[in-house]
Amino acid sequence: MLPEVKVPPPGPRSRELAARLEAVESPAFEARRDARAVTSGAEQAPIVYARGSGANVFDVDGNRYVDLTAGFGALLLGHAPNAAVDAARAAMEELPLALGDVYASELKVRACEAIAALFPEPGARVMLGLSGADAVTCALKTAALATKKLGVVAFEGAYHGLSYGPLAACGLAPSFREPFGAQLGIDVTFAPYPSKSLDESLTAVRGALKTGAIGAVLVEPMLGRGGCIVPPASFLPALRSLADEAGALLVLDEIWTGMGRTGAMLASAHSGVVADVICLGKGLGGGVPISACVGRARAMEAWGAHGGSTIHTGTHFGSPPACAAALATIEAVRGGLAERAAELGAAWIAELAAAAAGSSTRWSVRGKGLMVGVQLEDGAKALAVARALLQRGYIVLTGGARGDALTLSPPLTIAPDLLSAFAVELAALLD
Ligand SMILES: Cc1ncc(COP(=O)(O)O)c(C=O)c1O
Repeated sequence: MLPEVKVPPPGPRSRELAARLEAVESPAFEARRDARAVTSGAEQAPIVYARGSGANVFDVDGNRYVDLTAGFGALLLGHAPNAAVDAARAAMEELPLALGDVYASELKVRACEAIAALFPEPGARVMLGLSGADAVTCALKTAALATKKLGVVAFEGAYHGLSYGPLAACGLAPSFREPFGAQLGIDVTFAPYPSKSLDESLTAVRGALKTGAIGAVLVEPMLGRGGCIVPPASFLPALRSLADEAGALLVLDEIWTGMGRTGAMLASAHSGVVADVICLGKGLGGGVPISACVGRARAMEAWGAHGGSTIHTGTHFGSPPACAAALATIEAVRGGLAERAAELGAAWIAELAAAAAGSSTRWSVRGKGLMVGVQLEDGAKALAVARALLQRGYIVLTGGARGDALTLSPPLTIAPDLLSAFAVELAALLD
């Protein structure tokens, strides 16, 4: 349904709840809002969600929004009701938790089989987690075990989560890493993401690999938080060859791009590249927390060769509700959602690009499937536009290494008229 804004957001109930939250949660969030208000000249006080339905969110003041973020890209099937949440609820009533890596549930067996089958080669092995950061941590450990080389190549502008392993490889902004620098421990070389020059990027990767100390090349097939940037088609194939020559693993972080988001089950399928290890998260559970590190047999066998102890596990990893959610999501995406994302995304990007071309202000659009970035002139403009969109009933996020883009990743089930209505609204705002 189209937006319906009855009370200028944030309404009084949102303000009251936000003030209560501010009193008890991390002061970082309030500090960020204050800084953003100064940068943008636009108020940044938040709305508070009450419930969701399909691609709509309702706030506690009764406003209806179109959600173009889908819970940071995770709600592939939309808000409730959704098949993943329903499956998780049923599993929760029957068996909330099995015994992890000691005694599994049947749902875990089936989920691991289904996730292994997403890998483009037979024989893949799966290790489950809860968050995207868990999957990346597991992938980095896999590379260390399999190659015995502890260095990592990662990319400027990339985001892999904020627990210590992924944080060390976070290229989005040095400010994420700096306060914890001395605790990070992994030697990471950052190469430029090829948003401008492929040569420059590959030269940096080649240089790092020459040291012989790199066990993993960790890369997003498309930058997500970094601004929904699509690299040249030859980028992943080139990384594949360079990693092979250097005896390093190619680790693809498909936590945002995977599960149909870019118009294929895996974004790496667009370039035909087979990674050594793929990280899945976000949409894998359709809104229920589950992630997976899935890798080629020859990379993953290092975990067995390690010998007789379970050195990577977690209490809630692979819980029956999470596995049920993953099974339901995989089935839904296999049922045509990736193709739908490809078609809807292409039409939406064309609509937005036409609006940008006819606009008097400078902005542009890029993306693949339903993972779309709108490039604005600077971070202040992006924040102000995001705020103006909220006032009109559209929820978007800002992204990009300089915060100067809107990052859009709606549910794959969204109705096309909502995407078109957003394009019209954005064009009107930016004209
Ligand atoms: C590409 C990518 N990798 C990893 C992560 C981390 O996932 P999580 O926040 O679930 O730890 C994110 C989160 O935005 C992401 O976009």
